[in-house]
Amino acid sequence: MIIIKTPEEIEILREGGKRLAFVLHKTAERVAPGISTWELNKYAEGLIREMGDYPAFLNYRPEGATSPYPASLCVSVNDEVVHGIPNKNRILEAGDIVSLDLGLKHKNLFTDMAITVGVGEVSSGSLKLIETTRKALEIGISVAYSGNKIGDIGNAIENFVRKHKHGIVEVLAGHGVGKAIHEDPFIPNFGKAGTGAKLVPGMVIAIEPMLNMGTKNVNLNRDGWTFRTADHKKSAHFEHTILITDGEPEILTKI
Ligand code: MF3
Ligand code: CO
Repeated sequence: MIIIKTPEEIEILREGGKRLAFVLHKTAERVAPGISTWELNKYAEGLIREMGDYPAFLNYRPEGATSPYPASLCVSVNDEVVHGIPNKNRILEAGDIVSLDLGLKHKNLFTDMAITVGVGEVSSGSLKLIETTRKALEIGISVAYSGNKIGDIGNAIENFVRKHKHGIVEVLAGHGVGKAIHEDPFIPNFGKAGTGAKLVPGMVIAIEPMLNMGTKNVNLNRDGWTFRTADHKKSAHFEHTILITDGEPEILTKI
């Protein structure tokens, strides 16, 4: 069931989204060779708690998961696609690319956001992958108008990515968000225009393309959380929580 948010809820989500974007950008500024993925997690969690909010992913257990997620920030390095678990021994090195994915609960409502950044100097291929994924999110958002359908979002992303020969991850997708981290509808990053649920004002959704340098295929690690590319080539991920309005889509996860 798709939950339409009230104006009061939207106001809270707007504030939560702003806080989330602030924390994620501050955390991204810390990314540098020599820092551990655990330190990034600790820093992000500290900022969220300082503001009186709650890290939404900590102990979150989505349907089908065998264990609760053990951290606040998902840190996915290189061939890790999403849901990488922060670790004191995982030290970032120049040339790595790292996806930071964070959820925040503000006054009981949730927002969700992810960005991918390079560590030190990275290859031009990595930069291109990051930039294409960022653009894919922008294009997905650009068609998120009331009256359009869920399939229009995936279709726009797929048509754009096709020119770049990157693999679009199919087993993971965007989603409704707000009362919970994951709500209906499921929002794939590929699909047919004009299909699926209709977008209406008051819907709040997370759009999150995950693009791979090579194959679209991914595998779940033995830790039960981390998805990695099947060919171990790099992957990038961007995500915004957005509001469907009468006019332009509104990005809630922005400063
Ligand atoms: N942004 C992530 C997603 O939509 C949320 C991950 S929840 C976690 O899949 F528990 F895995 F961290
Ligand atoms: Co998400």
